[in-house]
Amino acid sequence: MTPDASALLRWYDHHRRILPWRSLPGHRPDPYAVWLSEIMLQQTTVKAVIAYYERFLTHYPTVQDLAAAPLEDVLHLWAGLGYYARARNLHACAKRVSERGGFPDTVAELLTLPGIGAYTARAIAAIAFGRPVVPVDGNVERVTARLNAIEDPLPTSRPLLAKQAALLNDDPVAQNRPSDFAQALFDLGATICTPRSPACLTCPWQTSCIAHARGIAAQLPAKQPR
Ligand code: ADE
Repeated sequence: MTPDASALLRWYDHHRRILPWRSLPGHRPDPYAVWLSEIMLQQTTVKAVIAYYERFLTHYPTVQDLAAAPLEDVLHLWAGLGYYARARNLHACAKRVSERGGFPDTVAELLTLPGIGAYTARAIAAIAFGRPVVPVDGNVERVTARLNAIEDPLPTSRPLLAKQAALLNDDPVAQNRPSDFAQALFDLGATICTPRSPACLTCPWQTSCIAHARGIAAQLPAKQPR
């Protein structure tokens, strides 16, 4: 059974996490803030990112401010977040965006910018611009593997998981609220459909989850032995 987007969005409306990069319900967020948060969240936890995110926005309130800053200052402010290629790409991307007068609003154009891959392009397109696309991160892969009881291990199953995740968007209710739908999936993966001991009994998608019905949710997604 295809999961019901309205059940997920209803759950999200009650349980959404308050995070500094999230706009108030009904308000469009600043694409710069969305981009900055998504780059920081690529390999770092929400908890670790919050203080860095706020410091960056204080130092560089706009993408033009960031573009005009010396790279050394940006790297210094990034210190501790790790993966310094991200900070270099961040600065290069800010310059490009500043030169073109703002962020592009399509997945295809976002993909041409430094440091923006398939996940980040979709996250920005959905969250900042309301494009009906599903960003697939580790959370969404886990939710998708469980909903469909996909037992093939990662990373082999990745293309299949991406295809199944895109189907979640077939529901017009999801397409109507792309930003909330994407972030509801992140929150579901972070707070209910967790890697270990998922809280299936309080999950808004419990009744459409095949892995839950089979009692194997906690075992998925399987990982290829290395
Ligand atoms: N992880 C990646 N992007 C996120 C977001 N916008 N909210 C919560 N967790 C996330």
